[in-house]
This record gives sequence, C-alpha cells and structure tokens, in this order.
Amino acid sequence: MSDWTALLDDLTAYLRWRQECGQRTEEIDPETIRMFLAESPARPARAAAMADPPLPSVGASDVPEARQAALAVIAQQVAGCRSCVLCEKRTQGVPGQGNPISPDVMFIGEAPGAEEDKQGLAFVGAAGQLLTKMIAAMGYTRDEVFIANICKCRPPDNRPPALDEMQACLPYLRAQIAAIRPKIIVALGATAVKGLLQSSAGISRLRGTWTSYAGVPLMPTYHPAYLLRYPLAKKDAWNDLKMVLQRLGKPVPAKKSEET
Ligand code: URA
Repeated sequence: MSDWTALLDDLTAYLRWRQECGQRTEEIDPETIRMFLAESPARPARAAAMADPPLPSVGASDVPEARQAALAVIAQQVAGCRSCVLCEKRTQGVPGQGNPISPDVMFIGEAPGAEEDKQGLAFVGAAGQLLTKMIAAMGYTRDEVFIANICKCRPPDNRPPALDEMQACLPYLRAQIAAIRPKIIVALGATAVKGLLQSSAGISRLRGTWTSYAGVPLMPTYHPAYLLRYPLAKKDAWNDLKMVLQRLGKPVPAKKSEET
C-alpha cells in the first residue's frame, strides 16, 4: 500500500470516528492542508495514471455537507495548483460552481476565458450568457445544474487547452464528478470531448450520440461560443438537450426560437 493510500485510509477512519462522536465540522490548519496538497493526486506525474481509473469515493457523500466540503477541498487544490503552465498566467483558478447534490446535469466546457478568470466563476462571459439561456430553455436555473470546465485555469489568449494541460487538470474534474454525482454530463464542444474521451472526431459527428464518462451518461453537443458564431447550429444543440431531458424523464419545455 502506498503512503498516499495509507494516509487517506487513516484520514477516512479518523473522520468517520469524529462523525460517530457527533462532530460535523473539522478545523484543519493551513500547514496540514499544504502538506496534504503537496502529496495529492493533482501532481502531474499522477495525472496520466489517473486518466481512467474508477472514481474515488468521497466518504459520506450522501451527506450534502460532505459533498460541499469535498468541493471546497477541490477548489482549494485548484487555487494552489501548479500542475501545468496555465498556472503562470491565471488570475485565479476557476473550479466550477452549481448544485452539488446529484444535479440532473453537469455541463463541462473547455477552460475559463477572460471574464471567468477575472470573476473566478465558470461560463460568465458571452458564451456563458448563451449557456444560461440553454439551461433555462431546458427548464433549469444555473443553480440547479453544475457548470465546470476540464481546465480550471485560463489559457493565454484564449487558445484551446493542450492535451497535457487537460490531462493534468482531469483529476480535479473527476473528483468533482465523484463528489456531486451528476445524473448526466453534457460535454460542450470538441475540445471538452477530446479531453474527456480522447476522441479527435469532430463535434458535428459526435454530438447527439450518447456515450459515457466515469460511468455517467454523456451527451456531446456544440460549445455555446460556437453557437454564437454559427446560430444555425442551435437547432441541433437543442435536439441534443431534448435527448438529455428525455433520458432524465423530464418534460421538454416548448422553446421559443428567440430563447437561445
Ligand atoms: N468557455 C469555456 O469553455 N468555459 C468557460 O467557462 C467560458 C468559456
């Protein structure tokens, strides 16, 4: 057993014991967190090995507070991450945000842009505004779904993230998926699909076809930034989102054409 596994086992046993004693919160001093993060699976050497193992279980994750705590730890890791070159030019990491309790849908884009880098929130720029409309057209608010990116730091000049940058960042996303357990993932755009599924096929070929990631059904569709440039593709994207609603057993709201 590796030191890391042994440390996690000890920590899990300790937290279980504290929970049995009725302790619901735990104070951890910054030095301990630093030591923990220095050994964490976010280190690049481990990233490749973690590309496809089963998702880690996040302790008592049926407890909403535990899921929130797990997300907070991930956000803290992202804030201090130096696993790839993107950390050098970021203003801040953008872990993602939304409903942490088994949301019907988790949207996954590629990486933060300028506005996201400034605000520390995923999809809050122009593409984000269209995503908000797409979410509303499905009958949800942004707070009811979870919105994240494969890369948590902004690539300079908004270039697409490189494969090694996505791979270095994937453990964070996988840990988020494990913590929140979304019912369905919607992958936004070719880069997200490439990072998740290692598929270089074009998004127009992949969209509208179910696949899965980490055991969660996944629907690829167009990135909202693409839809802003090519509004004619919105009809296809809406068809993909309708398939998501159908799979969830949700009613498909009648969508006014000016909504997205
Ligand atoms: N594009 C993305 O892929 N993600 C964001 O958060 C914003 C724009």
